[in-house]
Amino acid sequence: MKLGNLQFDHPLILAPMSGITDYVLRRLAREMGCGLAFTEMLSAEGLLRKGESLLRLEKEDHPTSVQLFSSSPDVLAEAAEMAEAMGADAIDINMGCPARQVVETGAGVGLMRSPDKVERMLVEVRRRLRIPLTIKIRSGWDREHLNAVEISKIAEGCGVDVITLHPRTKVQGFGGRADWGLIREVRRTVFIPVIGNGDVTTPFLAKRMMKETGCDGVMIGRGALGNPWIFRPEGSALSGKGYTPSLRERKTLIGYHFSLLRDYYGDRGAMREFRRHLVWYTRGLPYSASFRSKLSGIEEREALFEAIRGYFNELENMEGHAHSEAMAVTGRVEPSPFSWWE
Ligand SMILES: Cc1cc2nc3c(=O)[nH]c(=O)nc-3n(C[C@H](O)[C@H](O)[C@H](O)COP(=O)(O)O)c2cc1C
Repeated sequence: MKLGNLQFDHPLILAPMSGITDYVLRRLAREMGCGLAFTEMLSAEGLLRKGESLLRLEKEDHPTSVQLFSSSPDVLAEAAEMAEAMGADAIDINMGCPARQVVETGAGVGLMRSPDKVERMLVEVRRRLRIPLTIKIRSGWDREHLNAVEISKIAEGCGVDVITLHPRTKVQGFGGRADWGLIREVRRTVFIPVIGNGDVTTPFLAKRMMKETGCDGVMIGRGALGNPWIFRPEGSALSGKGYTPSLRERKTLIGYHFSLLRDYYGDRGAMREFRRHLVWYTRGLPYSASFRSKLSGIEEREALFEAIRGYFNELENMEGHAHSEAMAVTGRVEPSPFSWWE
């Protein structure tokens, strides 16, 4: 897939998720093979006011598209210019957020109700940017107002480089199923690349989305939580095969994730951020509910690590010491899964 002058071999993309897709998660996804990552949505007004305290792009954090929201074409264009100067590889305009506080101001999916304003905004932003410009849209406001195709045509006419479509309406929120048929319709309408999004939780589904809709890339949100392996090329959208990490790999990655959080946020911040990732990493594993209930009372880092070690030891015992046997046969000495933690 091409995004302006950026070229991606691997078509899986990490979705913007507010409060979740921070530098650490973007980095982990990228280390697994994710081609492109997005920041969470940032208020254009906020960026102009707060600058670097709202957006900081580390040198390993590329390519990243910075997602902005505003209802004002001028404010958005000014913030986009600022983000470009701060090192953004692309700018994405959020036209899909259904949150009341955002929509009430006319931003997010609220913009899709005003195609004229969308056009004015895109013309202004495009005029002031040198880097690629992308938009992320929904199907429309409700079933009676499905205008993703209309907005996509406008975007193409204004020089937008890529369109991401999450085919649910504002009224749907996150309920029901994403209507992949609409991705196919947009794909058939415009000549620029289209990224499909919605309900992809496995490489198999990513492959199916590409096959059924002809989309050029697949954006993954909730399916990547606790599962950055979804971006691994072995389990790529092209092969459609999933990659299942061993317990040891899972445990190692959890430790690595914590170490990255600690480097970025410091100890206290890391503890705050880490818990929910831990919940996602252990989702679906045996006895994970009782493990999670133990976590809520734990405040200290060492106690938390102890609980994680204990839980994974139990799981490994349940597996019948498969790992140690394999090591005895191959004679390989692997690094301690907790080497990141010490
Ligand atoms: C917690 C959460 C936060 C989100 N924040 C954003 C955001 O900041 N910007 C955006 O465009 N979409 C946001 N989304 C929507 C996702 O990017 C994506 O479109 C949606 O989750 C559907 O994809 P999925 O089924 O792969 O999760 C968010 C979704 C979730 C679950």
